[in-house]
Amino acid sequence: MRNFLCSKASFLLLVILLLTNCFDIEAQKCRPSGRIRGKKSPSAVSSNTKAYLTLNSFEDGGDGGGLSECDNQYHSDDTPVVALSTGWFNDKSRCLNNITISANGRNVLAMVVDECDSTMGCDADHDYQPPCPNNIVDASKAVWEALGVSREEWGGLDITWSDS
Ligand SMILES: *[C@@H]1O[C@H](CO)[C@@H](O)[C@H](O)[C@H]1NC(C)=O
Repeated sequence: MRNFLCSKASFLLLVILLLTNCFDIEAQKCRPSGRIRGKKSPSAVSSNTKAYLTLNSFEDGGDGGGLSECDNQYHSDDTPVVALSTGWFNDKSRCLNNITISANGRNVLAMVVDECDSTMGCDADHDYQPPCPNNIVDASKAVWEALGVSREEWGGLDITWSDS
């Protein structure tokens, strides 16, 4: 549908809008050249740091790709574990510490086990995903369950978190 529109659009404005759209889509594709560089986020966090919660699997064969960086192990998705964006991961300084995730009127404790790499992506180690944005708390389904988020809404949620 999008391709059809891109080739057939006749109004100049529409063409420009769609071209912009097409470039955006192009820009989001993974390029396995290893040349994509994300921005490092600051490692310091306030007592309530804003972040975006995403859903990840930390199990063998899950979409986390590979063993968790902190302990070289897989983790059951029934345990509350998270990966943090590179800046917050801060060279493993939060490894195996717990953070408190606040959302939906609840506070949930989760253990930091992995990095959501904001500087590299697009390889087997990162499940061919593009680099992680710098404001991500990537959580197992146990975290989503504990927050009481209904299953249809799992995947993206504004949260705050703090060291605990
Ligand atoms: C984090 O929480 C888990 C589960 O409650 C606990 O087993 C673990 O000892 C805690 N880790 C630290 C570093 O406090």
